[in-house]
Amino acid sequence: MSEQAFSPEERAAVYRAIAERRDMRHFHGGEVAPELLARLLEAAHQAPSVGLMQPWRFIRITRPALRQAIHGLVEEERLRTAEALGERSEEFMRLKVEGILECAELLVVALMDGREAHVFGRRTLPEMDLASMACAIQNLWLAARAEGLGLGWVSLFEPQTLATLLGMPAGSKPMALLCLGPVAEFYAAPMLVQQGWAAPRPLRELLFQDRWGKHE
Ligand SMILES: Cc1cc2nc3c(=O)[nH]c(=O)nc-3n(C[C@H](O)[C@H](O)[C@H](O)COP(=O)(O)O)c2cc1C
Repeated sequence: MSEQAFSPEERAAVYRAIAERRDMRHFHGGEVAPELLARLLEAAHQAPSVGLMQPWRFIRITRPALRQAIHGLVEEERLRTAEALGERSEEFMRLKVEGILECAELLVVALMDGREAHVFGRRTLPEMDLASMACAIQNLWLAARAEGLGLGWVSLFEPQTLATLLGMPAGSKPMALLCLGPVAEFYAAPMLVQQGWAAPRPLRELLFQDRWGKHE
């Protein structure tokens, strides 16, 4: 064991947050205290980012009419997604895929404008800005779970329409809607698994040695 390791209890807490984090779609209103929200956003903001570009921008939605409008956009995209799914369309429509109107806090996470100026680590892989943003969201997600709050990541929306609604500058891009808040309980397993929509694959199938597809 490394001398730098956390105590056994601390390590257990980290792994517990990772294992028990769930994507939540069922919320029961309530609120997130301002100091708790600030703590969670600080956790997100401590994420690693390519070249330390910190490409994330957070927009907290406070106006009920704006939240309704965002919900409307998601509903439109949900219908289009169902259409695109063909034979699984009805099954998809039965899934709950967002909790926008029920969650205590709604956050939009966006990539900043002017990202092309950041070349370090992105010359061949420009999508590393998105990867960095995802690290920030995962920090927030894990911290929220430790605080007993649910978080649901919603990506069913037309980005340009949402960008216009939020007065975002050209070059920026909304990438995630985060529903955050108290939940009655956390799903024991991913909801898509509980509902029979998808089955997770074990790590051993996705872990190769030396060459793609080679398992030892
Ligand atoms: C980038 C990203 C986008 C997602 N978008 C949605 C979404 O639009 N609607 C939804 O219901 N779940 C969404 N999810 C949640 C996934 O369905 C969920 O993470 C997955 O089923 C595993 O469940 P778990 O997070 O509870 O382990 C998204 C997750 C990620 C990482």
